[in-house]
Amino acid sequence: MAFTFFFRDTHTLEHAVKFMVPEVSGRSKIKVWDAGCAFGPEPYTLAILLAESMGNFAFKNLIIEASDIDEGGNFGNVIANGIFSNEELGRIPDEIMAKYFSKIDVEEGFYKIVDRIRDRVKYQTHNLLSLKPIGNSYSLVICKNVLLHFKYEERIEVIKMFHQSLMQGGFLAMEQTQKMPEEIKHLFEQVVSDAQLYRKVG
Ligand SMILES: C[S@@+](CC[C@H](N)C(=O)[O-])C[C@H]1O[C@@H](n2cnc3c(N)ncnc32)[C@H](O)[C@@H]1O
Repeated sequence: MAFTFFFRDTHTLEHAVKFMVPEVSGRSKIKVWDAGCAFGPEPYTLAILLAESMGNFAFKNLIIEASDIDEGGNFGNVIANGIFSNEELGRIPDEIMAKYFSKIDVEEGFYKIVDRIRDRVKYQTHNLLSLKPIGNSYSLVICKNVLLHFKYEERIEVIKMFHQSLMQGGFLAMEQTQKMPEEIKHLFEQVVSDAQLYRKVG
């Protein structure tokens, strides 16, 4: 269930970054929620894409709050350590790899993400079906390849919770196959036609 990898579906993430960054760059606190983040490749990919498109000053004001139900109970450690194997990092472009990862000496084939990126991602265990958000005033909520595991009615309630947790005009990104349910379409406007990226209305 925790299948994930670095630079997965960057198309949607790049759209999210492109729309979000110009709106948040002057803020003293920029909050993103990665809901159902698994063991870290997705929030770290997002942090890298944001680092590439934000100035240093704005990037220091960013916090990506990553959460997962984490049935095995080890995602927090993996994310905090920021150490990943060659296989997990396979899809990362070479120039990104060189810029954001360093080889670790103690274990061959393992790389550590640089502190500048690692420090921006904070993990907590959280069950989305509790319908209690982990926070509020998010500029972006990303929830990919998670809602498909829920019943249709549960999906609606979880997306409503995301709506509540977003700041005015904030964005919600889902995977390509996750369409917005008809019942709650009025809560969002779709930002681009070729990605499931929505902006909060109202
Ligand atoms: C397929 S992974 C997706 C990981 C990442 N978002 C991606 O797209 O690469 C699905 C994740 O959803 C998490 N998950 C499943 N049910 C959940 C729930 N009720 N609350 C929070 N996370 C949940 C799983 O633990 C798993 O890590």
